[in-house]
Amino acid sequence: MGTREELDVLLAIHSTPARRYLKSDPIPDETIRVILDAAIRGPSGGNQQGWGWIVVKDLEVKQEIQKFYLEGWERAYGYQKDEILNSTGQDGLGKRNFLSAEHLANNLAEAPVWVIPVLKNVNQSPRAGSSIYGAIQNLMLAARSFGIGSTLTTLYSAYEEEVKVILGLPSEYMTMALIPLGYPSKGRWSQPKRQPIEEVTHWEKWGQLKNT
Ligand SMILES: Cc1cc2nc3c(=O)[nH]c(=O)nc-3n(C[C@H](O)[C@H](O)[C@H](O)COP(=O)(O)O)c2cc1C
Repeated sequence: MGTREELDVLLAIHSTPARRYLKSDPIPDETIRVILDAAIRGPSGGNQQGWGWIVVKDLEVKQEIQKFYLEGWERAYGYQKDEILNSTGQDGLGKRNFLSAEHLANNLAEAPVWVIPVLKNVNQSPRAGSSIYGAIQNLMLAARSFGIGSTLTTLYSAYEEEVKVILGLPSEYMTMALIPLGYPSKGRWSQPKRQPIEEVTHWEKWGQLKNT
């Protein structure tokens, strides 16, 4: 098994950004098992655990799915490349994130391991994902404790049916994300940048902000 860092839980949360520059060095299966064993400790409604966790290491399969991801990337962001790289504003993806996301789109298959979490009988409720995304965050934090970077991605999802065929996924399941895992080749375990907590915390009622 790979070496694991003893990480305080808050320290881990505050130092797990999306990591999109990844080496192709393999990850031991035992490490993947430990990471998934942490993922499945996450919550699901009624503890139904209608999930499955598809581990993809096969380069050809990854390359096939990457084509769909790249098309999704191009349609969502790639076509705006000049505009984003020349913009001066702070809004949106930003230059650095654009370049890292572009790098990931072009190198997705090089990540040694992908995990594709799938969920059964997903309904139309906007809360449908709540029965798996907590577990996915567990997965990314557990990976971080092994020094393994990850990003929650969905840009392949316009091609859900094609991806399902490649993965042999039964019709009642839906892919919920594609998470490339790998040891980082560039970047840092920096604190994810967010709006200040004071601006998004409402005390008792919406709109009642105070300094926390
Ligand atoms: C629903 C969802 C879909 C996402 N899809 C993608 C994606 O397809 N590709 C990608 O590079 N990042 C994707 N991300 C990652 C976000 O861009 C990232 O969480 C956000 O920019 C914050 O990054 P940070 O934690 O490094 O600050 C997705 C995140 C979420 C929650």
